Amino acid sequence: MTYSSSWRSPSNIALVKYWGKHGLQLPRNPSLSFTLSACHTDMKVMVSPEADSAGLQVFYEGQPMPSFEAKIKTFFSHLADRFPWLAFAAVEIDSVNTFPHAAGIASSASAMSALALCLKDIDDQIKGIADEPNHAWWSEVSDIARLGSGSASRSVFPHAAMWGHTPAVPESSDLFAIPCGQHIAPFYKSFRDSILIVSSKEKSVSSTQGHAFMDELPYAATRYAEAHRNIALLGECMKTEDQVAQFISIVESEALQLHALMMAGAQPFILMEPGTIAIIKVLWQFREKTGLPVCITLDAGPNVHMLYPEKHEGEIRQWIDDSLVQYCASGQVIHDQVGAGPVKNP
Ligand code: PMV
Repeated sequence: MTYSSSWRSPSNIALVKYWGKHGLQLPRNPSLSFTLSACHTDMKVMVSPEADSAGLQVFYEGQPMPSFEAKIKTFFSHLADRFPWLAFAAVEIDSVNTFPHAAGIASSASAMSALALCLKDIDDQIKGIADEPNHAWWSEVSDIARLGSGSASRSVFPHAAMWGHTPAVPESSDLFAIPCGQHIAPFYKSFRDSILIVSSKEKSVSSTQGHAFMDELPYAATRYAEAHRNIALLGECMKTEDQVAQFISIVESEALQLHALMMAGAQPFILMEPGTIAIIKVLWQFREKTGLPVCITLDAGPNVHMLYPEKHEGEIRQWIDDSLVQYCASGQVIHDQVGAGPVKNP
């Protein structure tokens, strides 16, 4: 008997950054992200639970990808209690990303959330459960995705999600993300994210190294306290569209803090490229001149996420084309937007 499941799951971009972890993928601070749409992974998983020989085969764009296997095997080892059939199964995973693999955009959030969805769906099939996914189902998928990649826990919910316990949000948890879409103004649910690809090289510092780096940093406790504060402030200001200036100030501070932290250790990293800084400076001048509500955020890499409301899309995309594409590798910009979360493929 072979079971199969296929899901499309999006990437996400953090507004309040998760950077620092402990135990089994538990965050040192709460984080909050926009769920994206255009940047997603389509994945199909096939499982034969009682195959003659158990094993894992991973394909990306139809090509065998043995280099992905180690990370997935570690992920499976964390799921042994939850999915005992994994130990005896032949598993095949096929996936494609809509965003270029070499664009330097983290694909672990979309890929690990897609994998969590496929595995949970297959587990339901094995157990003969045919119920419509409910709140508990989605929380469990988020928990499973977290074990693959912390940020993946947030990709399973539409519009916006937060992960990590904070007293300001009593239902928040370190184990799974919670949806936040119902608490934010429609203005934010249609936000645009134009991703300016300054460099498409592999990230120079992996997330694993980055999280570990925080353990050695004298500023870590202050940073974690700041994240708690920023989540509370951002949650409040995103309830309406009237406080967009505060949104901009918190989101940019979060992005620059992440990079400042990496520059502040005994063995520092500079993850921005000259083009990253040029784009930020041009944006600040543009915002000063036009008063338009547009801001940047950054991942742990040089590419710039330009965030802005749908109603200013025309003028901001024109400005990106005229003034910022020159800083992008091969002129690459990916125009994405806040999205509705994962969908099951037919
Ligand atoms: O999920 P990880 O372990 O790849 O960490 C992601 C870390 C950042 O992307 C830099 C921030 C975040 O919250 O997504």
